[in-house]
Amino acid sequence: MSRIRIGVLASGRGSNLQAIIDSVKEGRLDAEVAVVVSDVEDAYALDRARSAGIEARYIDPARKGARLSKESERRVIDVLDEFRVDLIALAGFMRILRSDFVRHFSGRIMNIHPSLLPSFPGLKVQMKALEYGVKYSGCTVHFVDEGVDTGPIIIQAAVPVLDGDTEEVLSSRILREEHRIYTEAIRLFAEGRLKIEGRVVHVLPERRDDAGGDESRH
Ligand code: GRF
Repeated sequence: MSRIRIGVLASGRGSNLQAIIDSVKEGRLDAEVAVVVSDVEDAYALDRARSAGIEARYIDPARKGARLSKESERRVIDVLDEFRVDLIALAGFMRILRSDFVRHFSGRIMNIHPSLLPSFPGLKVQMKALEYGVKYSGCTVHFVDEGVDTGPIIIQAAVPVLDGDTEEVLSSRILREEHRIYTEAIRLFAEGRLKIEGRVVHVLPERRDDAGGDESRH
């Protein structure tokens, strides 16, 4: 399979984007970030893209609120099509995608969320986890469906919630895991190893290259 092309949507600092860029650069992910799109003109994510030589596009959201205007969302679709992306990675993209968008790229949109879904969907979830008093939280990479943080789960990582944790401390403990599992989920997608069956994502075994053989195998 040829290298997949990823389109990343981000609204903010873009540390997950950076983790993906670094994974590609360091050869841990056989993929190409083809374009980064943001609804925020001065998003640091766009600077990160430009510094890495990746096409960075700002699209005026044309409205406040949870969704882009219909026209703006159409423009995002057009950009992603123009760059022939195979996968869309939402990385701190603060807008909810409309059904048209989700259907257009069905099964090819991923999101990273800083809680163990289905607990704590939505916003400010590290704070919500602290307030609820859970002993473990974490992060989830999932496919995006037409709901908010409801799509089929690909990978999760748990972290402990410790006495005295602030929102900041817990967020950064979770963020380290986000950076790790997002790359991992994209790698599985790139290898064609994710199979969605209803709500469940099956991870297919690694394909062995029979021609080469594995010397270290006993
Ligand atoms: C992350 O916590 C991610 O899980 C959430 O938004 C945050 C984005 O952070 N969806 P960054 O912009 O990738 O640094």
